[in-house]
Amino acid sequence: MWWIALSLLVLIVVIRIWYRLQSGHCTSQKTLDGKTVIITGASAGIGKSTAFDMARRKARVILACRNLEKAQKVADEIIRDTGNNSVIVRKLDTSDLSSVRSFASEIIKTEDSLHILINNAGMAGHHKRESTTDGLELTMATNHYGHFLLTNLLLNLLKKSAPSRVINVSSKMHEYCRKLDPEDLNFEKSSYSIFESYNRSKLCNILFTLELAERLHGTGVTTNSLHPGAVDTEIAYKMGGFAGYAQAFLFKLMAKDCELGAQTTIHLAVSDSVEGISGKYFVDCKETESSKLAQHRGIAKKLWLASELDVKLENEEVK
Ligand SMILES: NC(=O)c1ccc[n+]([C@@H]2O[C@H](COP(=O)([O-])OP(=O)(O)OC[C@H]3O[C@@H](n4cnc5c(N)ncnc54)[C@H](OP(=O)(O)O)[C@@H]3O)[C@@H](O)[C@H]2O)c1
Repeated sequence: MWWIALSLLVLIVVIRIWYRLQSGHCTSQKTLDGKTVIITGASAGIGKSTAFDMARRKARVILACRNLEKAQKVADEIIRDTGNNSVIVRKLDTSDLSSVRSFASEIIKTEDSLHILINNAGMAGHHKRESTTDGLELTMATNHYGHFLLTNLLLNLLKKSAPSRVINVSSKMHEYCRKLDPEDLNFEKSSYSIFESYNRSKLCNILFTLELAERLHGTGVTTNSLHPGAVDTEIAYKMGGFAGYAQAFLFKLMAKDCELGAQTTIHLAVSDSVEGISGKYFVDCKETESSKLAQHRGIAKKLWLASELDVKLENEEVK
């Protein structure tokens, strides 16, 4: 029996080393003096590591988070470790459209510029379908609709601050979403599952990026999406259940740590090598093919129109 345990241990160690060695690294030394960065979901995981990096590069960093107490502790830690005092916390719950609207209007009122918007906040879903107060499915609201609305509300500020960048944290799991009905984004007609809702929301992140890039052509604002890799964060624990804990355990053994998991986000936020590149999907700091469905321009347009209706985006809000 001991040799089975030993072989398993060796296998885990080999996978862990291999996975980390082939991970992409952002090699840019760029500093961000005078630049403002917003990171959604910066109170934990990949978002927290991204915030640390942006602060080290001397940016003004806004942590857009739902749990103010938790986020303030992260902000204090970043300030202490980096010596950058321009790290602030603002309340944002991406699953709640009124919270997104309040956050955006506060930013527009208080900030002169916005150079990098990182749409990172996310959840892996709940085992039962849940509706938000806006009538949207919770995972779709958190991962897609909130960021769709937020980006639209901040577009004028981003354009005014150009060159500027919007980065959407998606996932390789989008590949498992085989079809998308823009008239049934919230599982009202089709049956719900925790995996389907997460995969769908992550497909929407890429399709949103595709259409946004087209609409932003010539404005100096670029947008790209990414898969961070398998990263040991809180996301699987929060999912709960056997699947959540099993995934969390495996990720603890074999996945990237948060610093490695943030590298592609950071690369897209700062590297000169991606200047002018827009509408693309990246893995390990390299441009990569997303699924065929994620490259479908017709579906991307339909998703945009359906999302505008679902978040009740008014013309006056984006003028
Ligand atoms: N970890 C992976 O292996 C992996 C793989 C592919 C893609 N991703 C993507 O990476 C992104 C970051 O996830 P992570 O792995 O770093 O997970 P995490 O450790 O759970 O961090 C997620 C962050 O999003 C925040 N958040 C969740 N729901 C929110 C809401 N309604 N409003 C505002 N903030 C909210 C969380 O806030 P609280 O601290 O308050 O919970 C936390 O700050 C997600 O978009 C995820 O889909 C992760």
